[in-house]
Amino acid sequence: MLREVTATRYITPLREGGSLPGLVEADDRGTYVMKFTGAGQGRKTLVAEVVCGELARRLGFRVPRLVTIGLDPVLGLGEPDPEVQELLKSSGGTNLGMDFLSGALGFDPLAFEVSPEEAGRIVWFDALVNNVDRSWRNPNLLVWQGDLWLIDHGATMIWHHNWPGAEASAARPYDASEHVLASFAPDVAAAAAALAPLVTAELLAEVTAKIPDVWLSDEPGFDTPDDLRRAYARPLAARAAVVHDRIQGIEGSK
Ligand SMILES: Nc1ncnc2c1ncn2[C@@H]1O[C@H](COP(=O)(O)OP(=O)(O)OP(=O)(O)O)[C@@H](O)[C@H]1O
Ligand SMILES: [Mg+2]
Repeated sequence: MLREVTATRYITPLREGGSLPGLVEADDRGTYVMKFTGAGQGRKTLVAEVVCGELARRLGFRVPRLVTIGLDPVLGLGEPDPEVQELLKSSGGTNLGMDFLSGALGFDPLAFEVSPEEAGRIVWFDALVNNVDRSWRNPNLLVWQGDLWLIDHGATMIWHHNWPGAEASAARPYDASEHVLASFAPDVAAAAAALAPLVTAELLAEVTAKIPDVWLSDEPGFDTPDDLRRAYARPLAARAAVVHDRIQGIEGSK
C-alpha cells in the first residue's frame, strides 16, 4: 500500500501537464502534485505511475515519494475554472499524489551535464518500461537540489492497453533516438549489468502490491486485482533480461 492522505485544498493547476495535474494540500499538511482518476488518460496512467515510480525507486533512482490522495468531489464546488471543476467532480475517491519538489527546474540538456553512467541507467530503465515520454521535447526530468529526478511515468508499458497481445508487444525493441539523454553517451551495457539482476520476481511483487485495488478492478480477462498485478510483473521480468540488446537509436547500440 502507498501512504494515504486526504485532499483538503485545491491550490492551483500545473499548467504544463497535459493531464491537468494540480497542486493540492492534504490533511498531513503536505503539498502534493495530484493526478486525477477523472483525467482523460484514465486510471491506467496512474497504475503506470505507481509501477514505474516504485520500481525506479527500488533500482536506486530519485523519484518523488508517491501517495494516494482521497478526494471529496465537494472540493470542486468552489473552483472558478470549469475545466478544473469538472476534473474534481469526476475524480471522487482514490487519486495519485507525489511530493511536490518546490523550486525544481525542468531538465535542460544544454545546461546540465549527465554522466554516461547515469544517462545509461535512465535510458535502460526507460527501455525496460517502454517509456515514450522522456524525449527532448518533453524530458519529464526535474533538477532539484542539484540532482536529477524522474517524473511522469504515465506513458509507459503500452502493453497494458491490450493484455492479450502483451507478450508480443513487450518483445518489441525500444527506440531511444529521441530520448533526451541520447546525446550523453549512455552506457546502457553497464546499466543492464547492474540493474537487470535486481528486477526479480520478489521485487516486482513488492512493486505491484503498491497499486491500489480500486484501479485494478473490472479489467476484462482478470478475476482479481492480484491476477492483474501478476500480468504487470510478467512483461517486466521478461524484458529485464533482454532489453539491453533491443535498444535502438543510440551510439553503440544496434
Ligand atoms: N513532483 C513534482 N514536483 C515539482 N514539479 C512537478 C512535479 N511533478 C510534476 N511537476 C511539474 O508539472 C509538470 C507536469 O507534470 P507531469 O509531466 O507529471 O504531467 P503530465 O500531465 O503527465 O504531463 P505531460 O503528459 O504533458 O508530460 C512537469 O513538467 C513539472 O514541471
Ligand atoms: Mg510530463
